[in-house]
Amino acid sequence: MGAVKSTSLSGISQTLLWTLHNRASKSRFGRIFFRDPAAEKLYLQVPYEYELYFGKPDVSHALWSHIFDRELRQWLKSHPSNQVIELGCGLETQYQRCGNGSVKWTCIDLPDVIALRRELLPESNRCRYLSADVKSGNWAHQLSTQQPVFISTQGLLMYFYPAEVKNLLSLIAAKFPNATILFDTIPPDFSKRTMNGYWKTKQYRVPPMPWGIARKNIEKTFWHWLPYANRGDVFPYTKVNHFVAKLLGFASKVPLIRNKLPYVVKVTVNSL
Ligand SMILES: C[S@@+](CC[C@H](N)C(=O)[O-])C[C@H]1O[C@@H](n2cnc3c(N)ncnc32)[C@H](O)[C@@H]1O
Repeated sequence: MGAVKSTSLSGISQTLLWTLHNRASKSRFGRIFFRDPAAEKLYLQVPYEYELYFGKPDVSHALWSHIFDRELRQWLKSHPSNQVIELGCGLETQYQRCGNGSVKWTCIDLPDVIALRRELLPESNRCRYLSADVKSGNWAHQLSTQQPVFISTQGLLMYFYPAEVKNLLSLIAAKFPNATILFDTIPPDFSKRTMNGYWKTKQYRVPPMPWGIARKNIEKTFWHWLPYANRGDVFPYTKVNHFVAKLLGFASKVPLIRNKLPYVVKVTVNSL
């Protein structure tokens, strides 16, 4: 690697190596529903003591990405040449997995991360990169706001405070009148754990994740935050053929447990 080193990443930006670790390892070694050759290649290219920091890989991020890809591919069937925006893209390779040759894709992240991404995954006409703090909202002025857009926001919103999440989602709804927004949530118990200082391994303390939301509050929170939203879906895991997905699917139906699980949520805004 050239000028930018993965080891110079810290705080929330360092977490992109955690998701890469999980996705690439599961793609490489799992007997699994999820394949990501571009992530496997990156994993070999980016030297890092992955297990020392993040522990043994688990299936979580492959599971989320599988759901994200499924929803995006479904949307692309009716919007093959429109626009996809990935917020907090890190080194995610969703474009490599789902790009169809005609969709216009924009990946947005903080400057250090975009510099690293440019070195490892060169930008192209179809897949452009923008260096921006997504909370600032400046990025939205640089993109076409009139055409339908799919906004993929994986592993990001939990690192923001609830008011910041509300502001970001409201900004998207106001700027993009025809938007499908997909994001993942964590439960309040896990959020509290990170706020109290959660060491994933002896070497790695997970950055605080101030925004957690219980299953029972998801719909009502988004209807309240986003009056323009005309549809909200919370995805079951059970459609994925993996025992952890089946277990989560079962747990999501058990009253005492369902509020203690992570979810993938889709909100559709159509204010045209
Ligand atoms: C857990 S990683 C997820 C990366 C990628 N989406 C994935 O699934 O592999 C979180 C990402 O959010 C980015 N991020 C954090 N705060 C941000 C902000 N305010 N604006 C833009 N990106 C941000 C980090 O730099 C990092 O790349």
